[in-house]
Amino acid sequence: MRMASTDIKSVLVENRVFPPFADIEKNATISGMQAYDDLVKEAQQDPNEFWGRLAKEHLNWTTPFTQVLDESEAPFYKWFSDGELNVSANCLDRHLGTPTENKTAIIFETDDGKVLRVTYRELYDRVCEFANGLKALGYKKGDRAIIYLPMSIEAVVAMQACVRLGMIHSVVFGGFSSKSIHERLVDVGASLVITADEQMRGGKTIALKPAVDEAIATGGCQAVRHVVVYRRTGGNVQWHEGRDLWMHDVCQGQAGPCEPVPVNAEHPLFILYTSGSTGKPKGVQHASAGYLLWASLTVKWAFDAKESDVYWCTADVGWITGHTYIVYGPLAAGVTQVMFEGVPTYPNAGRFWEMIQRHEVSIFYTAPTAIRSLIKAAEAQPECHPRKYDLNSLRIIGSVGEPINPEAWMWYFKEVGRERCPILDTWWQTETGGHMITPLPGVTPLKPGSCTLPLPGIEMAIVDETGTDVKSGTGGFLVVKRPWPAMIRTIWGDPERFKKNYFPPEMKGYYLAGDGAQRDTDGYFWIMGRVDDVLNVSGHRLGTMEIESALVSHSLVAEAAVVGRPDDTTGEAIVAFVVLKRSLPEGDEAAKIAKELRDWVAKEIGPIAKPKDIRFGENLPKTRSGKIMRRLLRNVARGEEITQDVSTLENPTILDQLSQSV
Ligand code: WTA
Repeated sequence: MRMASTDIKSVLVENRVFPPFADIEKNATISGMQAYDDLVKEAQQDPNEFWGRLAKEHLNWTTPFTQVLDESEAPFYKWFSDGELNVSANCLDRHLGTPTENKTAIIFETDDGKVLRVTYRELYDRVCEFANGLKALGYKKGDRAIIYLPMSIEAVVAMQACVRLGMIHSVVFGGFSSKSIHERLVDVGASLVITADEQMRGGKTIALKPAVDEAIATGGCQAVRHVVVYRRTGGNVQWHEGRDLWMHDVCQGQAGPCEPVPVNAEHPLFILYTSGSTGKPKGVQHASAGYLLWASLTVKWAFDAKESDVYWCTADVGWITGHTYIVYGPLAAGVTQVMFEGVPTYPNAGRFWEMIQRHEVSIFYTAPTAIRSLIKAAEAQPECHPRKYDLNSLRIIGSVGEPINPEAWMWYFKEVGRERCPILDTWWQTETGGHMITPLPGVTPLKPGSCTLPLPGIEMAIVDETGTDVKSGTGGFLVVKRPWPAMIRTIWGDPERFKKNYFPPEMKGYYLAGDGAQRDTDGYFWIMGRVDDVLNVSGHRLGTMEIESALVSHSLVAEAAVVGRPDDTTGEAIVAFVVLKRSLPEGDEAAKIAKELRDWVAKEIGPIAKPKDIRFGENLPKTRSGKIMRRLLRNVARGEEITQDVSTLENPTILDQLSQSV
């Protein structure tokens, strides 16, 4: 952990408070502070009783559980562990024979504006058909599938079909490189890959299948038996006879029900890779029942989703937000949702607002980085300003992925929510499975920039280095004191790393989130950002070490150090300090090498990991013991004056070199 807790200072001084809106409070699932307090109290008095009640009320079990929480192997907690169910049955079959059966499940809008709709019944049929097809190919419970698909109904079908058979999926975001796919393929030992020929984004086609072909050709993927390809564009693809199959051919002749395979509550539902402070991305493993319970409950509690709502989460299914708040939570809750293939700026920066208007979206969930870029766009192109659109259908708007600064919050509140929609600033992580700290629309007075209060049953705290609670107004480490059903179960294949990372001994058995935070005198949480070497660029998590390893794997690079710098649009920007094996480049040559390195990182990890700024030096600032002085590099990256004593540096003049942008 990089910062001492006393170093975490609040940059936010915010006094505005917005009480809940009466109309929303009146009809909310959790209505009024008293109702919230009652749930919090119920959870505190008897957590097992509380979670047991919710798991019975909100999930359909094929074998009921008798034990709620099993702490015998803590921190490897188990929930409802003698119960059995199927997650796909809890998202689809449960709606058959109810009014939800013929309700629209997904309104899918393509990049170029075509609209496709499926009802819950149709989605069920399609999932069964594909699951039957996979079954016919011999896939079964416990097999792992890598899914590398664009935003599409097919992505939902693929994920749901896997879990219907008890398979474990690992979705790789379409922006990741073949190298990243390869790492995940090998790590999970996948026998199946589901991908598409190409994807469409912002009017352009981007090939997907070649990255899969290249990943498999890298070697070590003997377990892969099939690559199933969804034909999205009809673009040219290379075909490997015997291994590659079209998704529509796999479905051919497979219509009819597919019995959902009951699995133990703790059966892994999926593995999703995310960046940590050290080493390669880690495979966060989630369990079936606890995860689904929280996914569906938070859709009902936090988003207050109702029968009549049209819900839209703009995340990609390649991230946890897309898993929990597109593929699992909303379907389990029976909500009608919009799903979007494209980007917020195509054909122009009014796309989100136009889609809210067209589909009469009432619950809208996006990321601060999108909001910030649309603020800029609206200034530059007034015709794309949200005020130009009818956004009257909106009733709740949300934000996720990074701190939302009060300015962006106020703009979102005024220009999008028209001062009548509560903003849910939801704090959570890949590891937490679902929302942890968030306002409730019918309960919580809002303060711009604060994610406010924990959900009932979630015991959040801020502690110092010894795991002791800090006073309000003092910064510290954000922890969760009690286990909760949707928590990460382990890191796939690396239980030791799981323990070390999330339950370090000094934290007294609390879950360590890796964020710094503080609480104000009302008990509201203010998140200050990561305290480890994880960067948050446009809401995407990237480890500095991951990017450094990618850079040093280039033949020209001797050494590299990566830090974050605050950025108006992307939250944080990546700055890389690079020492080459050759002499210091200058002018055009430096620019050429910088470009080559950026492209290299895009190829090694993905375009989202490209450094915004690359600085060359003959060395990096190091202590006498050879440790890179990252704090100094952060100062340099931000253009801050160096106040620290630098006399111990091997070569203080390198700071001048490193201050020069290419
Ligand atoms: C950050 C995304 C401030 C935080 C769901 C966390 C936030 C990391 C917020 C997890 C928020 C997420 N306010 N910071 N509302 N939401 N974060 O795993 O640093 O991609 O640790 O999960 O994003 O990112 P992840």
